[in-house]
Amino acid sequence: MPGLPGLPGLPGRGLSELTSEDEERVMKVFVIGISGSVGSLLAGELTARGDAVTGLVRREDQRAELASRHVDVRIGDIGGMTADSLASLLEGIEALVYTAGSNGGRREVTDAVDGEGVRTALDAARLAGVPRFALVSVLPEAWRERALDDHEEHYFAVKKLTEVAVSESALDWLILRPSLLVDRPGSGRVALGPAQLHGEIPREDVAATLAELLHEPRIGRQILELNEGETPIVSAVRAQVR
Ligand SMILES: NC(=O)c1ccc[n+]([C@@H]2O[C@H](COP(=O)([O-])OP(=O)(O)OC[C@H]3O[C@@H](n4cnc5c(N)ncnc54)[C@H](OP(=O)(O)O)[C@@H]3O)[C@@H](O)[C@H]2O)c1
Repeated sequence: MPGLPGLPGLPGRGLSELTSEDEERVMKVFVIGISGSVGSLLAGELTARGDAVTGLVRREDQRAELASRHVDVRIGDIGGMTADSLASLLEGIEALVYTAGSNGGRREVTDAVDGEGVRTALDAARLAGVPRFALVSVLPEAWRERALDDHEEHYFAVKKLTEVAVSESALDWLILRPSLLVDRPGSGRVALGPAQLHGEIPREDVAATLAELLHEPRIGRQILELNEGETPIVSAVRAQVR
């Protein structure tokens, strides 16, 4: 299996390696989609800051690779989990990030992962007392000028309905809508705000922005759109504090 991106030799620790002193100052984050492109880059960003990161993977080989990098993950398929079973993995977690997605695949997978899975995660966060919930979503008007096939139309519709469920929750939620994700290196400069153009954004910049947002407790209950831009990520995030 190719190595997971974004996780070079990390200074971070697994949850089980934290001392009681660490417990006071380290942010504990659980990432659903941690084996994915954005998820693994986010794990790298957070562990580089010293945060304790864990998450959900579907395969043992993914668990073993992440464990070798001090990210101790749990195995599960969000499409088949109950809120109770997921909640049992979330003890002490301060922020749950949901970046799993079908990326517009088959309808039933989209329904399970981009739809129902997020609702399960919301319920699990509530049951486990996880205060913050961040969802990586998508620009709802993405590619309106292009002809989308039925699966893609369905994907955008499900993502939008999922956003409604997140925004109606009592959690301290955040929805980040990136534009088209690309794999070129990040520039560290973005356009972030309630309404942005739909261009492209390197996944590295999405992960860095998300990490910065998670470290800004004054940003919550907001939908933010993200595109490539000119503003350094730290400044772009600070500008969204209300
Ligand atoms: N593509 C775009 O241009 C675009 C634009 C805006 C927003 N987005 C959204 O951005 C998010 C992240 O994108 P990405 O590029 O990082 O996606 P990705 O690389 O395809 O990663 C998807 C992640 O979801 C996990 N996953 C899928 N089904 C799962 C299940 N049933 N149970 C547990 N985990 C499951 C995958 O696990 P495995 O490793 O096991 O497959 C993987 O970790 C997605 O939600 C996507 O919809 C995409």
